[in-house]
Amino acid sequence: MKSAVALAVLASSGITAAAPEKLHKRALASSAPFYPSPWMDPDAAGWQDAYAKAKEFVSQLTLLEKVNLTTGTGWESEQCVGTVGAIPRLGLSALCMQDSPVGVRGTDYNSVFPSGQLTAATFDRSLLYKRGLGMGQEAKGKGVTVLLGPVAGPLGRMPEGGRNWEGFSPDPVLTGIAIAETIKGVQDGGVVACAKHFIGNEQEHFRQTGEAQGYGFNITETLSSNIDDKTMHELYLWPFVDAVRAGVGSVMCSYQQLNNSYSCQNSKLLNELLKGELGFQGFVMSDWQAQHTGAASAVAGLDMSMPGDTVFNSGRSYWGTNLTAAVLNGTVPLWRVDDMAMRIMAAFFKVGMEVGKQEPINFSFWTSATFGFRNWVAQKNVEMINHHVDVRAEHALTIREVAAKGTVLLKNTGALPLKKPKFLVVVGEDAGGNPFGPNACSDRGCDNGTLAMGWGSGTANFPYLVTPDAGIQARALQDGSRYESVLSNYAWTQTSALVSQANATAIVFVNADSGEGYINVDGNEGDRKNLTLWKNGDDLIKNVSSICPNTIVVIHSTGPVLVTDWYNSTNITAILWAGLPGQESGNSIADVLYGAVSPGRTPFTWGATRESYGTDVLYEPNNGNDAPQQDFSEGVFIDYRHFDKANSSLIWEFGHGLSYTTFKYSNLQVAKSQAGPYTPTTGQTAPAPTLGNFSTDPNDYLFPNASFPYIFEYIYPYLNVSDLKKATDDADYGKSAKDFLPPGATDGSAQPLIKASGKSSPGGNPQLYDVMYTVTADIQNTGSVAGDEIPQLYVSLGGDNPKVVLRGFDRLSIQPGDTQQFKVDLTRRDLSNWDPATQDWVVNDNQKTVFVGSSSRKLLLNAALQ
Ligand code: NOJ
Repeated sequence: MKSAVALAVLASSGITAAAPEKLHKRALASSAPFYPSPWMDPDAAGWQDAYAKAKEFVSQLTLLEKVNLTTGTGWESEQCVGTVGAIPRLGLSALCMQDSPVGVRGTDYNSVFPSGQLTAATFDRSLLYKRGLGMGQEAKGKGVTVLLGPVAGPLGRMPEGGRNWEGFSPDPVLTGIAIAETIKGVQDGGVVACAKHFIGNEQEHFRQTGEAQGYGFNITETLSSNIDDKTMHELYLWPFVDAVRAGVGSVMCSYQQLNNSYSCQNSKLLNELLKGELGFQGFVMSDWQAQHTGAASAVAGLDMSMPGDTVFNSGRSYWGTNLTAAVLNGTVPLWRVDDMAMRIMAAFFKVGMEVGKQEPINFSFWTSATFGFRNWVAQKNVEMINHHVDVRAEHALTIREVAAKGTVLLKNTGALPLKKPKFLVVVGEDAGGNPFGPNACSDRGCDNGTLAMGWGSGTANFPYLVTPDAGIQARALQDGSRYESVLSNYAWTQTSALVSQANATAIVFVNADSGEGYINVDGNEGDRKNLTLWKNGDDLIKNVSSICPNTIVVIHSTGPVLVTDWYNSTNITAILWAGLPGQESGNSIADVLYGAVSPGRTPFTWGATRESYGTDVLYEPNNGNDAPQQDFSEGVFIDYRHFDKANSSLIWEFGHGLSYTTFKYSNLQVAKSQAGPYTPTTGQTAPAPTLGNFSTDPNDYLFPNASFPYIFEYIYPYLNVSDLKKATDDADYGKSAKDFLPPGATDGSAQPLIKASGKSSPGGNPQLYDVMYTVTADIQNTGSVAGDEIPQLYVSLGGDNPKVVLRGFDRLSIQPGDTQQFKVDLTRRDLSNWDPATQDWVVNDNQKTVFVGSSSRKLLLNAALQ
């Protein structure tokens, strides 16, 4: 087995450097080392009980058992997408890691929820929570331990980013609130949530070298996302802070490098920012094959290796045997492995799981057959592996509601809501089903029929898919409308014959898809290659609207598309964005079209051209065969912040969305609170706790006996032979920690607390959450029907900050004539900037102004903050 030890030499965090000849060509961004890795804090708020239980459990474990908890058993080795070893002696069954952020992946009788992005468009905290709860309950019912979501990376720096839909919004505050509510829901459902991908995973291209090579790019290291300290704090890290505050049990480090150090061994990221500054008490797991070293990643803060093998099905691991050996030979201190095990078990206990009472894993990700190999790749142990447990409960109701309330009414000249239309013609392939079934394409890697989910690991199998054609027809028949549909983008003769008829209301469905990098759909290698509609969508819209004066357009997409050519046509009477709605698609869109439900607001900006966004995917390597370099040189200016800075026109701004009624904003009030001064955190941690002793005799770590049921390609914690050098198969074996690990990496003595951190308070210095001002405004429904308004609070921080930044919002259901109060507490964090010089948050002297409005550009009320 390839050793932790040797590989660590190559790419330890803080040591990683480009070859010298490259350095003179380009000064590469770098990541400062931070050691030792912060250990758990038993007094951390929200974690005390979990920590006490974890301590009781982990204190009983042998070194082998601890290692078994930290290392996956290998790709396709057990039923879940990732599994860590069981501890049968104490009754702990294997822990199951399973995708995805829209439902339980790769099984049956589960629900498919709307994408995170569409859920963000509801701007509704209770729906974000409810969706999370439903997903958590379903995962629990399948025997999952960790549900691999939600997503805040990608945040959405580039609209082409393939996985933006798995996350929420390029605005960090909206994403922060969304991820926190989702996490609370998932974990209340009884499973551990996993905030991913940490961090800077903004594009699919070059995230993994093997994948890139498969596309013909000869690179030897992955992309480096180069993000400066201020941008990191004020933008990309922001939602992860909210995730940590919400008590998230696990975080997944990402594939690509951050400032030229791999995320899963980047000590600045994992040790300093996540565990130090944010006080994260759960565990860090690697993305699948995102681990590149053994000892180096252990001391840089990684706690769990997924799926456990170095590369899929290699039978080798950076950890497993090698982590055992690394502790035995003194390279990795025991306290670090204790801390890994503690963190994993604390997360387990925190969500209410109990040893010996885990829900059995009742599905196999690798097959839908009822009976089959439990150990899939080894083709071993035939048993009933799929129990086909129906976990859906009443979640369809939530799914329908979320997708409808997230759908955005971008334009409406009076065509909507529909009122007993005489003749409805639904047009477009995107209104119908995939002729081969909604799950026909593996991991949804195609765009056939209506688009209700992107592609990749962020998917789940549909239990059914209500197409727009089915949903709208069912609703239309209630009114006695005449109804026809043409479910093709290319049947112009038939389509024109219908939409040219008297009284026709045409609803044209179009889409644009994207997904994860390992699948290429129509030349889109995960990331979209352009922002135009797929399958001739633009021409379809133009053709229909050229002859039908009442043309309504519905867009299913993974982000903004270019509408510039046609959105202003007077024959186009309404445009809706319905995102990726999940299984109830047709019912949800019917609810919005007919006015049964109030729509949402766009969670991203719609630019007039692709270039107008100011950022784009890096599609070609730019550093020879070395790591492609992507400089996030625009800083915090993405999406609306960029458009505002450039003062450029756009089609629809962030936060925009129409309603079927009208609202009046008035009476803005700002009340100043008596928040005390900000005091940076001082003091020290306790020394690293160690839980028990271990034998240093390698003979105690051999495979148990000759009849041990060894499984092919399985990753074990045991040694093959008692000679550690042979057991690790490491040519460099014998070097000690001080030969290659960075200074301080193994130091378990008390450490100074980070200024911006909180003492036993996850989420940073608690004074950042002191309320400085309370802002209120009155919102009146001045129309004749009930409706939801989504008032938004923006702040101008002055100086060189964005023109405005979102800091609060609410979704208020208001009856006609009624008024409701919109209220936001502005915290110190909301008014601070990150100061790289002092390494802390600072409220500077710039004049600050608060705005309340209905979008990022409709800032109806304002007041200066005193
Ligand atoms: C890779 C993806 O990036 C990650 O999001 C997913 O959870 C794992 N694969 C497991 O499928």
